[in-house]
Amino acid sequence: MPEATIWSVGGYAPPHIITNEMLSHRMDTSDEWIRTRTGIHERRTAGDDETTASVSVNAGQAALQAAHFDAADLDWVIVCTDTPEMWSPATACFVQESLAASHASAIDLTGGCAGFLQTLQIMSPLAAAGKRLLVIGTELLTHALNWNDRTTAVLFGDGSSAFLLGPSDEGVPGIRIGLGLSRSDGAQSDILGKPFGGTRFPITPDVVLEGRLHTIRMEGPKVFKHAVTLMSDIGRRVVQEASLGLEQIDWIVPHQANQRIIDAVTHQVGIPTDRVFSHVAKFANTGSASIGLAMADMLEQHLIKPGQRLLSVAFGAGFSWASQLFYVDQIPPCEFRHDGQPA
Ligand code: UT7
Repeated sequence: MPEATIWSVGGYAPPHIITNEMLSHRMDTSDEWIRTRTGIHERRTAGDDETTASVSVNAGQAALQAAHFDAADLDWVIVCTDTPEMWSPATACFVQESLAASHASAIDLTGGCAGFLQTLQIMSPLAAAGKRLLVIGTELLTHALNWNDRTTAVLFGDGSSAFLLGPSDEGVPGIRIGLGLSRSDGAQSDILGKPFGGTRFPITPDVVLEGRLHTIRMEGPKVFKHAVTLMSDIGRRVVQEASLGLEQIDWIVPHQANQRIIDAVTHQVGIPTDRVFSHVAKFANTGSASIGLAMADMLEQHLIKPGQRLLSVAFGAGFSWASQLFYVDQIPPCEFRHDGQPA
């Protein structure tokens, strides 16, 4: 039976670097606090001329060019994001047009920071059945931050990543998508999200005047606790259900939210730290883009080798959490665009 395979990977980190030091001039925080509580040193922000669609196009083009794949041969363009171009139409439609994916259907999916893995789990059967998909995870989270709220403003960054997916039986080498699980608990929807601006809490002049309620709100310590417990649990379950042992996992590729969360999961799962990838220091939390960006960086650094098994774990608004196994048959081509300079 053919399986869904990652044929190529693209990544785009927007050019403007904002260091912790720069943030400390803008709000009551410090480089030392941010580093010790989160492991973050800097994050990227999109330029004034960039939007969710344009950064998605950048990552999508990177994946297509790496594979020398013609966008006209795509069946689907999917953008996974919590920070869309607009309410309607879907961001993916703008991306489809810009990429000239002339035969593709385009749709957005929203799942918080676990959304990229959830999207892969929904879309993998299509790729296994012979469709060619461009799955893009993008966030412009710095557009959704309350810059007066130091508890959230220091955590997030902008970015985009893309996987070109197809079936495993067409002679295109890559990373096979294995067993994945995901879960949600809507009873915890109030601990992390951007509640204003939808139909329950529309944006009115009062809402805006009352204090930027259309931005991300989070109960940090609760999110931290759920993230560690639920990611550890679902990661172990995926390994067990795939009849593997943890010693057979070569790399954990966690959602890049916070180094303390990554360390706590590493400890709870009981896997050596040198098998856990992190670049949260450089890019901070890029939501739906995070796991794809991590994979792009790992490929660029030649950390991923043929024959390895990777396990991703993620959590985010919903509350949702997910885990996904990947089998590296061969190294897929990858283009990671990440040149940056201080904003
Ligand atoms: O994709 C999901 C994204 N969310 C996350 O990953 C967040 C998960 N949560 C966390 O990582 C942590 O809860 C935080 C990093 C957000 C906060 O760390 P904490 O150790 O839980 O700190 P805290 O919220 O308990 O706050 C401790 C102190 C407070 O001051 P007081 O009340 O002790 O005087 C905060 O006001 O730290 C203060 N504080 C800050 N100080 C300097 C909070 N944010 C900052 C800041 N700079 N940026």
